[in-house]
This record gives sequence, C-alpha cells and structure tokens, in this order.
Amino acid sequence: MAFNKCWLILAITLCVIGIGSGDDDHELLSENFYHKTCPKAVETIRKAVIDAVSQEPRMGASLLRLHFHDCFVQGCDASVLLDDTPNFIGEKNSGPNKNSLRGFEVIDSIKSQLESMCPSVVSCADILALAARDAVSALKGPRWEVKLGRRDSTTASLSESNSDLPAPFFNLSSLITAFQKKNFTIQEMVTLSGGHTIGRVRCRFFKHRIYNESNIDPSFAEAMKALCPSAKGDGDDNLSPFDSTTPDTFDNAFYQNLVNQRGLVHSDQQLYANGAGITDSQVFMYSRNFGRFKKDFADAMVKMSLLSPLTGNNGQIRTTCRFVNN
Ligand code: HEM
Ligand SMILES: *[C@@H]1O[C@H](CO)[C@@H](O)[C@H](O)[C@H]1NC(C)=O
Ligand SMILES: *[C@@H]1O[C@H](CO)[C@@H](O)[C@H](O)[C@H]1NC(C)=O
Ligand SMILES: *[C@@H]1O[C@H](CO)[C@@H](O)[C@H](O)[C@H]1NC(C)=O
Repeated sequence: MAFNKCWLILAITLCVIGIGSGDDDHELLSENFYHKTCPKAVETIRKAVIDAVSQEPRMGASLLRLHFHDCFVQGCDASVLLDDTPNFIGEKNSGPNKNSLRGFEVIDSIKSQLESMCPSVVSCADILALAARDAVSALKGPRWEVKLGRRDSTTASLSESNSDLPAPFFNLSSLITAFQKKNFTIQEMVTLSGGHTIGRVRCRFFKHRIYNESNIDPSFAEAMKALCPSAKGDGDDNLSPFDSTTPDTFDNAFYQNLVNQRGLVHSDQQLYANGAGITDSQVFMYSRNFGRFKKDFADAMVKMSLLSPLTGNNGQIRTTCRFVNN
C-alpha cells in the first residue's frame, strides 16, 4: 500500500514538474479555451478573415502561409509576427520570409479588436491558427477544429527560419527531411504541399524551371515565360498563381497540375515523377479524389497547429502581435 502510494506521489510530482511532458503540451489546449474569458473571440476572427478574403482573395493564401511559417520555426508561438527592433532580431528578414510573407495588417487589426473586447486574453498564436483555418474554409476548402490556449513567444529565431523552412529548389529527399524534422510523414508532406492550390509565387522561384527543366509541359512553360523573362534579374518579382486554373479556390487542381507536368515550382513537381516516384500514387489519388485530400489536409493542419505550443505559464499573451510586452 505504502509502496503504491509512493509511486502515485512520484508520478504526480514528475507530472507537475513537467518531466516527460515535452511534446504533450498540446493536451493543455482546448476548443473552448476562450468560452468564458472572451466568448466572441472565435467569431470575431472568423468575420474579419471572411471580410479580408472577400476584399482580396489572395489574402486567404497569405494567412495560411503565415501559420505554416510560424509553426515550422520554434513551434506555433507567433514568433513569425515579431518585428525587428534596435535590440531584437525577428524572423521577418529571413530568406523565406523577406518581401514575401503578407497578412500582418490583417492580424494586427484582429488583435486590436480583441484587445478592446477582452484585453490580454487571446494570444497571437491562436489568432494565426484560427485565421489559417477560416481562410481555407473561406476559399471553399475543408474546415477543421482548432484547439486553443497557445501562448506567445518572447523570442524568435532568424536562423531557424532560414534553416527549417523548405525551399522551392529542394528535391524530394530534402522535402522529406525538412518535414520529418517536424515529425511529419512523407504522406503528410505531400498533403500539406496542397496548400499551393491557392496563392501566388514570384518569377524568381520558377524561372529556372520554365526555361531549363525538361519535366514540364511545353505549352505551360511557354505561357509562363510570358510572365517571367529569362534574363537574370528581369521580372523577378512578377507574380503567378501556383495553380493558374483555379487560383483562389481551395480544390485539388494543384495535384491535377502535377500529374500533367504543370507544377510551377521545382519542389512541387518533385512530388510527381510520371509514375516513377514514391509519392506519385498519392498525388494521382488526390488528383481524382478531392474528398480524400480535404480530409487529409484538415488532419495534417491540426497536427501542424499543435507543433510545440507554449502553454501554462510559458510565454505570454502579447498585447501587440509585433512586439514582446514590456
Ligand atoms: C513543401 C515545401 C514548400 C515549399 C518549398 C514552399 C515554397 C513556397 C514559395 C517559394 C512560395 C512563394 C514565395 C514568394 O514568391 O514570395 C510559397 C507560397 C505559398 N506557400 Fe509554400 N512552400 C511549401 C510548403 C507549404 C505549405 C506546407 C503550405 C501550407 C499548408 C504552403 C502555403 C503557401 C501559400 C498559401 C503560399 C502563397 C502565399 C501568398 O500568395 O501570399 N506552402 N511557398
Ligand atoms: C537532394 O539534394 C541534396 C541537397 O542538395 C543532395 O545532397 C542530394 O544528393 C539530392 N538527392 C537526390 C536524390 O538528388
Ligand atoms: C518530434 O517527436 C520527438 C519524439 O517524440 C520529440 O522529441 C520532438 O520534440 C518532436 N518534434 C517536434 C518539432 O515536435
Ligand atoms: C539555363 O541554363 C543555362 C545553362 O546552364 C544557364 O546559363 C541559364 O542561366 C539558365 N537559365 C535560367 C533562366 O535559369
């Protein structure tokens, strides 16, 4: 009896001091986290996102990407939102983020609405998670439940932002490795890449592919060349949709394009190699089965949104998403 009690006390102690709870922090999150403290938070965010997306459909893509770039660097802690200051280095000037991430003003405006409703209650990290969900559903994609209660970081990592976000020149094995580092399977990597069924990409990231790669549909390459001149530096910032057929609809056209050798960036086309690649069968299946892609995408987004959240007394609730509290 005494022996059993002792084990119980030991287990509780270990639990309280957090040993072994390293990647179970998300068990402290819950869907109704703000029900009592800010009952209108979830609805306020949804309305603001629907409004922003109806003003500019691309904003839906930008908000999805913000959450991805947040979660892959230090976990989903809103580190991506912190501005550089004279004594703070954020992530906004990393290679993948600089002159590229957008949507910060939408997040700022949501945050200021929430601060006037319920000061210092709703975290910026939760706003990002909900905004990504609402953005995808506003563009006719799947909806998923978002557990809440993430807290905001007081730190950011420029170096992790440079090292841990995948790049458009990656080959299949580098893509797999980058996602494996965040505990995603190859299948989940293929699923999450379907985020590129919405949004825009700059010419600099597909120039080499449309002029020099051979695994590309020739008429598609010709059409893209009109938007993206070959000379070094020319037109580098010109934008094209990843998915020119339905640029602002969250559908499975991205996978249909890959099967047709119409992936715009090198890394995306790596997922389909004319039947010869290990991920080809999944791409082909998604190209035929939107229902399955929708379900898998929702599940993978839930998993992404649970990457290393700060909970309990860790981190803080920022009052402004761009700056750590004084
Ligand atoms: C698989 C590896 C990935 C690579 C190599 C990659 C790379 C890129 C690149 C190069 C851009 C364009 C940036 C620019 O032109 O400034 C982009 C945009 C975008 N990415 Fe990814 N990405 C990947 C995965 C993801 C994932 C997992 C998601 C979300 C689930 C995602 C969502 C988006 C969206 C929505 C945009 C368009 C944003 C906008 O129009 O504002 N990407 N990505
Ligand atoms: C993929 O890229 C990495 C990094 O550049 C390289 O080391 C590796 O050999 C490449 N793998 C294949 C299969 O091409
Ligand atoms: C991946 O899983 C391992 C083992 O459970 C864990 O230690 C690690 O923190 C996880 N990584 C991320 C980014 O969640
Ligand atoms: C295509 O390849 C050639 C030969 O390697 C190179 O000189 C040229 O810069 C490449 N063009 C683009 C647009 O990448």
